[in-house]
Amino acid sequence: MLLKVVILGDSGVGKTALLNQFVNNRFSTSYKATIGADFLTKEAFCGANARSVAIDETLVTLQIWDTAGQERFQSLGVGFYRGADVCILVYDITQPKSFENLDTWRIEFLTQASPSDTQNFPFVVIANKLDRENDRRVATQRAQTWCAKNSTSILPFFETSAKAATEVEAAFRKAAQLALSQG
Ligand code: GTP
Ligand code: MG
Repeated sequence: MLLKVVILGDSGVGKTALLNQFVNNRFSTSYKATIGADFLTKEAFCGANARSVAIDETLVTLQIWDTAGQERFQSLGVGFYRGADVCILVYDITQPKSFENLDTWRIEFLTQASPSDTQNFPFVVIANKLDRENDRRVATQRAQTWCAKNSTSILPFFETSAKAATEVEAAFRKAAQLALSQG
């Protein structure tokens, strides 16, 4: 079973780092902004962005579609979003702006992907860079309130560190589980 995961958020929040940690168990501090989606699409197809996990009895392959946060106003085309089974929204706990932009990312996703059931489409929210707790500028409570406001049921929320590999596995597993339960 192949599931399409779209990961969105501002530039520098750690989208590529999260997927690299999840897929390859690797982390790098040297920052290379993701460029375009064409390259990523190719990468996704050759398997570099995919990993399998067992959810209950089902083996699920997550194909993670990563893109450049800085190209947010440049249309990626609906092809990037179409057929997504779940969307992961990422912000950086040290960058309030990246949290405030979650609204825009969520709306962008729903507009472009136009899932049949907008109300119940599964999202997972990730607050990344937990290892930088001392520089935190977005309170957990604030994010939880946003999650409650933007969902009819529960919008799962994880505080992660791609660097320390904290909760990364749990967040992606939750995404897989939600996508699966959508059928
Ligand atoms: P774009 O591709 O430009 O959209 O950015 P991105 O969201 O993919 O960010 P990326 O994964 O490239 O990470 C940006 C920078 O943050 C890099 O220098 C990473 O090493 C760093 N970074 C990512 N995750 C973490 C984390 O959990 N903790 C710390 N301390 N640094 C992180
Ligand atoms: Mg990136």
